[in-house]
Amino acid sequence: MNPQGEVQRPLDLMADEVFARSCAGNSSVGILISEEVEEVVAVKAAEAGDFVVSYDPLDGSSNLDVDLSVGTIFAISRLAEGGDAERLPQGQDLLCAGYAIYGPSTMLVLTTGGRVDGFCLDPETDTFVLTHPDMRIARETGEFAINASRRRHWDGVVQDYVAQCIDGPIGPRGKAFNMRWTASMVAEVHRILIRGGVFLYPIDDENRTRGGKLRLLYEAYPMALIVEAAGGRATNGKTDILRIVPDSLHQRTSVVLGSGAEVDRIAAAYEQAERSGDSVHLRQETCG
Ligand code: AHG
Ligand code: MN
Ligand code: MN
Repeated sequence: MNPQGEVQRPLDLMADEVFARSCAGNSSVGILISEEVEEVVAVKAAEAGDFVVSYDPLDGSSNLDVDLSVGTIFAISRLAEGGDAERLPQGQDLLCAGYAIYGPSTMLVLTTGGRVDGFCLDPETDTFVLTHPDMRIARETGEFAINASRRRHWDGVVQDYVAQCIDGPIGPRGKAFNMRWTASMVAEVHRILIRGGVFLYPIDDENRTRGGKLRLLYEAYPMALIVEAAGGRATNGKTDILRIVPDSLHQRTSVVLGSGAEVDRIAAAYEQAERSGDSVHLRQETCG
């Protein structure tokens, strides 16, 4: 089991080892935070300016047995002058974020905040080639992604949003929506960067005590930096993901990200629900 009580597959652990070994070979890396490791790992005696790397070594690992796309997600920040090695990185400290997706092609998608670039692995030369410069997320979309098997646990805002998408042209949205769910956040975000869309993994009645499903430091933060640098938006419904202040290493959060027009609509619905006193629960009550 990993620190979140989820089953670790052999490849989760192998990916963690490969990633950690590779980072340890870089003398600028001081601290590692991994989904698979309970505590912060000090690679060396921490000094101001050292990089802090938070990562999910293998994302979407339930897809391994069925040979669907999985990936690796990471975010990089720096240890501040006089910095406490135990201080958790905050969204606004992030210098760089990226993911690798292991699909029909292997791609590395990176941002340092200004823009997002995609590089395809050329297996012949073993180099990453810039194939997708300046990736941008379309503001409008007709595609949403959510694990619909959890519908009975959703709050009213998510229930209404998805119902309206499914009603398509005969509902209040007046247009048809398509749905996708790959159970691999890397694959969902990659699709959204390529052709737009909105992704939701909300806190719901079943996961509320754990604070949601997705992890803030090494899933939500890096994807939020990427999505925002590509012109999209990432929120927990109420607060921009990058403005959430972490209070535990493996903290989870609600996530709504992707095409700006849809994320704005969902955030506005949460605001409206809160104003009218409907019960919406966006804050985690405990941290998993
Ligand atoms: P991980 O494989 O690192 O544990 O992450 C899986 C995450 C995320 O990638 C995906 O969006 C979500 O869990 C899938 O959840 P469901 O199993 O509820 O579909
Ligand atoms: Mn993951
Ligand atoms: Mn993982």
